[in-house]
Amino acid sequence: MQPYSQAAEENKTVVLPVLEPRLKGVDQVLEIGSGTAEQIVYFAAQHPEVRWQASDLAANIPHIQARIADAALANLPDPVILDVSGDAWPSPPLQFVYTSNTLHIMSWQAVACLLRGCAERLVAGGHLCVYGPFILDGAPLCDSNIAFDQHLRERDPLSGIRDTAAMREVAEPLGLLLQEQIAMPHNNHVLIWQKR
Ligand SMILES: C[S@@+](CC[C@H](N)C(=O)[O-])C[C@H]1O[C@@H](n2cnc3c(N)ncnc32)[C@H](O)[C@@H]1O
Repeated sequence: MQPYSQAAEENKTVVLPVLEPRLKGVDQVLEIGSGTAEQIVYFAAQHPEVRWQASDLAANIPHIQARIADAALANLPDPVILDVSGDAWPSPPLQFVYTSNTLHIMSWQAVACLLRGCAERLVAGGHLCVYGPFILDGAPLCDSNIAFDQHLRERDPLSGIRDTAAMREVAEPLGLLLQEQIAMPHNNHVLIWQKR
C-alpha cells in the first residue's frame, strides 16, 4: 500500500487556487520534496497544460514513482532525485517551483540551499511558492505552532519552523524577493517569492 498523508490530501484543494493565478504562461513546475505525491498528482490532473515534475530524496522515489504510474497522466513524468543540499538539480531554467511542508523538516542549512538553488535557477519573473507554518518576520507564533515547533525540535534538533526574516536575508541579495504571505487554514501560509 502506498503511503498516505492526510495533510497533503487536505492541502491540495486549498493550495491550488493560490498557485493558479501564477501559473499563467507556465509550461513546467518543479515540486521539491513531493513526499507522498498526492498534491502533484491532483495538480497535474487539474492542469494538463503544465508538465509537473515531482522530486524528492532518493528514499522516497519508489513510492512517488508508484503513485505517478497509477495516475498515468501524460503531463506527470517520472520523479527525479533532488536533495536541495546537493548540486544535482534539474537543468535550468526553472519557471515555477512549489514546495509544501518541507522547510521545517529539513535543516536550516538545507533551507538556505533551497533558496539559493531557486534564486540561481529561476527565470526572471519565475515564482517559488512555499506552503507551511512560518514565523512571519520575527512575529510570535500561535500556541499550536509553538507546540509543533517544540515537537519538531525534540524529534530532530536541526528541524523547526523557519523565520521569513532569515529566509529573506539569504534569498533577497540573490534577487529572489518575498512578494506575498498568503494566510491559509490552520495557521499556515503560502509564501510567494519571485525572481527579479
Ligand atoms: C513533511 S514531508 C512533506 C511532503 C509533501 N510535500 C507534503 O506536503 O505532503 C517533507 C518532505 O521533505 C523532503 N526533504 C527533506 N529534506 C530534503 C532535502 N534536503 N531535499 C529535498 N527534499 C527534502 C522529505 O523527503 C519529505 O518528502
